[in-house]
Amino acid sequence: MWVPKDSNFIVSSHVLSATAPAKINLGLNVLRKRTDGYHDLATVFHPIGWADTLTADHADTVRLTCTEATLPSGEDNLVVRAARLLKASFGVDRGAIMNLTKVLPHGAGLGGGSSDAATALQILCRLWRLDCTTTSLASLALDLGSDVPFFLRRCTAFAQGRGEMLSPLEDYRFPFSLAVVVNPVRISTAWAFRHVEVRETGRADLAEVVRTNDLDRWRRELTNDFEEPVFSKWPVLRRTKSALLRAGASFASLTGTGSGVYGVFESHKFAEDAVQEAAARGCATWCEAPS
Ligand code: C5P
Repeated sequence: MWVPKDSNFIVSSHVLSATAPAKINLGLNVLRKRTDGYHDLATVFHPIGWADTLTADHADTVRLTCTEATLPSGEDNLVVRAARLLKASFGVDRGAIMNLTKVLPHGAGLGGGSSDAATALQILCRLWRLDCTTTSLASLALDLGSDVPFFLRRCTAFAQGRGEMLSPLEDYRFPFSLAVVVNPVRISTAWAFRHVEVRETGRADLAEVVRTNDLDRWRRELTNDFEEPVFSKWPVLRRTKSALLRAGASFASLTGTGSGVYGVFESHKFAEDAVQEAAARGCATWCEAPS
């Protein structure tokens, strides 16, 4: 029996509520193109506190309202697709009314849509009292997107394959302050994978490098292969990374396929100042202290 992390759920009368957190990639290596069109990669996914919120209540049909008008709230939305998939797999004849409070920018490499989808699977499992196993849920999650399985677990994990083969970094603690800056640029994941250069050999062991928390090593060895094509097309993102380093970040990187860029700081004050400066330039931002 799969039991959702109860700490993530708030129950108020009949309504269930859960957060859908973002992730950053600590290193991202694209190793090879596969025959199914996807790419094999190696990365460390790290969950952060920046999050959307999803609520769900009983209804006759599946419906979604969303605070962001530009997002599709119909059949194209990953939350609705998650609901449909769960209903079909478990033969559910009930519906749900869901509301998504959208905070996370999309097309930013933060996994917002994937996290919403994983949260929808979990919250609906609970609402409909389904007997979901970890394996069945992970397989539905992968149908929705390559990094959706990660968001079912939400702990720092080394990922391989399409991003679904997960090895949690047991007991890993991220002891730094984090500043995330998202320029008003949206990047299509498919575009980024079409333009990235693959390389299999001479790659660092990302899980081992992350575990050291040695920021000198992170600067040398935690590379994101998407920086090259993405920074060439959107130079503002390269400038954002440089600005974070100038503001005192000991490490900075594009997250996922972008457009989000984050800085890792040993001084929380410097992280806050960097975020304030970026927000004044019209960027969406997030800052968090070590947990
Ligand atoms: O799996 P997801 O829907 O997030 O992937 C979006 C697109 O990104 C895919 O259609 C594919 O073009 C590309 N992709 C890839 N290799 C991966 C993940 C995504 O080529 N490991």
